[in-house]
Amino acid sequence: MTDLVVIGGTGVYGIDRVQDVERVAVDTPFGPLESPLLRGSWGGRPVAFLARHGEQHSVLPHEVNYRANVWAVAQLAPRAVVAVNAVGSLDDRLPPAALALPDQLLDYTFGRASTFYGDVPEAPIHVDFTHPYDGGLHAAVARAAGDDLAVSRDLVYGVTQGPRLETAAEIRRMRQDGCGLVGMTGMPEAVLARELGLAYVSLCLIGNWAAGFRPDEPEITLDEVLENVSAAMESALGVIERLLVRAL
Ligand code: HPA
Repeated sequence: MTDLVVIGGTGVYGIDRVQDVERVAVDTPFGPLESPLLRGSWGGRPVAFLARHGEQHSVLPHEVNYRANVWAVAQLAPRAVVAVNAVGSLDDRLPPAALALPDQLLDYTFGRASTFYGDVPEAPIHVDFTHPYDGGLHAAVARAAGDDLAVSRDLVYGVTQGPRLETAAEIRRMRQDGCGLVGMTGMPEAVLARELGLAYVSLCLIGNWAAGFRPDEPEITLDEVLENVSAAMESALGVIERLLVRAL
């Protein structure tokens, strides 16, 4: 039994608070994992960590084998899965380096293998996805985060194909669509997790203002994104630790 799995994104390739780490190479019906699953203990609790893009960040967002990753996570039968996603912000309340916990998704990706249906006999054909994140886990993470979260309701994560960043016009359209966050890795991971019955939420690390959102901002650089993401990850680790101790 695993209490918690953390799926790490850009800038997050392990968790130094996890002890007694065992590296487990995993093969799945969808191919091998890009990097080993790290299993260990955090505050005495069994946890696991998976680097979504591989440990060397060698896999681009549209090339991630989301089905293999989610399948491998599901084999651990975790009580909770916290996915960490680097994003840009389209919400004045959510500046770079802040944490965000979306409760809705808009999927702008294309051509990604986005269902287990057809490959897993017991998977449902039309899974309910009205509320894409697990309600109980979302509430527990929001409680664990407390003041670390400026917004925890009505926050929409728009998932783009990448790997390029968006145009200013695309971001304007996404604002009209109601998006507060933009990133490249939120889907199809969330729906695959739902298909396999996992309690899954996305904890977003804000790396930058979305393209053109602040017209006076200079262009977005990867260095800036990584610096802000790593600052946000410090808060995320505290939140996840409180979640483990208090709610799981
Ligand atoms: N857009 C898409 N993905 C991202 C961004 C962004 O601005 N920042 C970090 N990941």
